Amino acid sequence: MVTVQDLSKSFKTKKQMKQVLDHISFTAQPGNIYGLLGPNGAGKTTTLRLIATLLKPDSGTVTVDGSDTVTHSRAVRDKIGLLTGEMRLSGNLSPRETLRFFGQLNHMDRKAVDERIASLSSYFGMDDYLDRPIDRLSSGMKQKISLAVSIIHDPKIIMFDEPTSNLDILAVKTVIDFLFDERRQGKTIILSTHILSEAEKLCDTVGILLDGQLVVQGSIPSLLEQYHTPRLEDIFFELARERGLTT
Ligand SMILES: Nc1ncnc2c1ncn2[C@@H]1O[C@H](COP(=O)(O)OP(=O)(O)O)[C@@H](O)[C@H]1O
Ligand SMILES: [Mg+2]
Repeated sequence: MVTVQDLSKSFKTKKQMKQVLDHISFTAQPGNIYGLLGPNGAGKTTTLRLIATLLKPDSGTVTVDGSDTVTHSRAVRDKIGLLTGEMRLSGNLSPRETLRFFGQLNHMDRKAVDERIASLSSYFGMDDYLDRPIDRLSSGMKQKISLAVSIIHDPKIIMFDEPTSNLDILAVKTVIDFLFDERRQGKTIILSTHILSEAEKLCDTVGILLDGQLVVQGSIPSLLEQYHTPRLEDIFFELARERGLTT
């Protein structure tokens, strides 16, 4: 479970402080997919980075399965897998070597890593290219390896930042099937997206983030009922209009 409580974050730019997150609170439950929805610049990636201990909050707290991200960051990192578009794999290492390296970073012993690599490789269909240099792989293959890297330590909490943007269509199916399998196993899943139709398909609960504020949240059916519409998109545009955000 991930609990975000009254979380705020600002960044200093050349001239001023810019508040990127303004007292947001939400809970992501085990066996559930929580979708953080919002346009570019809303603060989605910042939120995920705060949960992953890559940033420190200005105020407010984040706990991951009971561990505080500031006072127990190491424990939090062990429990979390974060996949972001920023991770670019390249070089002469093979996927197997890369996965072993990240397994070691996550304190796994060689036997545990190799067993995990075998199971991920069979799950994602990577057996054929596990020992080829990464530079010679297609982008779809690299995407699967990045995904495997982010979950090499079998984390209880899985966070995917815009997982399907820039993915080819087969890789999208891989990601979606994987998330549903992990949900079934009781993992806590948070994903960020600006694609509302995707959120409708994937998420159990969503929070809509606009300009650093979490303006509504709830289960998708309850939100659709509350706003008398069959589409999440309508809610999103209504909220954006109320706030004077233009598209
Ligand atoms: N390290 C940083 N320094 C300064 N500004 C940042 C930094 N990271 C993000 N921002 C700003 O914070 C806002 C939210 O960014 P981000 O969390 O990446 O949004 P999203 O992922 O929803 O597109 C944007 O205005 C972005 O420019
Ligand atoms: Mg982002």
